[in-house]
Amino acid sequence: MQNIDTLIKRLPKCELHIHIEGSLEPELMFALARRNNIRLPYESVDAVRRAYRFRNLQDFLDIYYQGMSVLITEQDFYDLAFTYLQRARADNVRHVEMFFDPQGHTARGVAFAAVVNGLSRAIADAGREFGVEASLIMCFLRHLDEADAEKTLDSALAFRDKIVGVGLDSSEAGNPPSKFKHVFARARDAGLFVTAHAGEEGPPSYVWEALDVLGVRRIDHGNRSLEDAALVGRLAREKMALTVCPLSNLRLRVVDDLRRHPLRRMMDKGLVVTVNSDDPAYFGGYVNDNYRAVFDALSLTREEIVAIVRNGFAASLMTAQANADALAEIERVLAESK
Ligand code: ADE
Ligand code: ZN
Repeated sequence: MQNIDTLIKRLPKCELHIHIEGSLEPELMFALARRNNIRLPYESVDAVRRAYRFRNLQDFLDIYYQGMSVLITEQDFYDLAFTYLQRARADNVRHVEMFFDPQGHTARGVAFAAVVNGLSRAIADAGREFGVEASLIMCFLRHLDEADAEKTLDSALAFRDKIVGVGLDSSEAGNPPSKFKHVFARARDAGLFVTAHAGEEGPPSYVWEALDVLGVRRIDHGNRSLEDAALVGRLAREKMALTVCPLSNLRLRVVDDLRRHPLRRMMDKGLVVTVNSDDPAYFGGYVNDNYRAVFDALSLTREEIVAIVRNGFAASLMTAQANADALAEIERVLAESK
């Protein structure tokens, strides 16, 4: 029998909740700062890592927006995404649905085109060079107003072939999904896939709104759904996938101890859960680290790990054929691991 690390590594996987700006490792941050003549408020890579102590989501977001200020040119966005995709390949991730935050860049004077073209070119090269397939989901920053999101959607529609969906992220408390009702309706009308962060710090009512007002097809995080039995019933009945991010939840103190992470209870209640890294450069782990962490903390079985991996494919936007191929490969890995 293969040990659990080997099994996790060999299983082909999806990553459905990764903010590409959250994959910016301090080493690349310094390299880009040098290239763009930007002064960082840290003297070393170690000093950056020491600053990554967060009391909550907002603490993290303040540092995350500061970190992304080194991203200026199309090549910077290319380097960011290509570096992440290489790292994903090392974890045997085959399919990535990558969030990006254009308003975090356009507000600093970076052209929307530089962001999307850099990320897209990295995705094309990674697909050709090492077979990781990826697509882009553009997130609206929910601490900004809907008019700003509308302008951002206008920009995105000129790049419709390069973006598969829209999402909603940033400071959750006080910024309910219903604030973005009109812009999400317009995104849906344009044929874009829609998802939203909900129930990370915000209440169950935000998850209801994401479903009923925004018409989302996945929920990003969704932890606090467990506080509402009717909501849990709805999510289970509709097989609505939750993109859960265990190490993120630990580092942002959404949970105080991974042994009390809600993933186990979500599975027991029949929810479709997936495991993802969120912002791996900030939270100390890529996707395999997240699988390993919940395996240990929640005493999951190998079968439960495999079920979560399968959920990732089922919840993805992959074609039916690619999905069937991945499931067949999972079976081969399991046969070899006996
Ligand atoms: N942006 C990047 N990571 C995020 C998270 N975990 N929640 C909300 N917004 C984010
Ligand atoms: Zn997130």
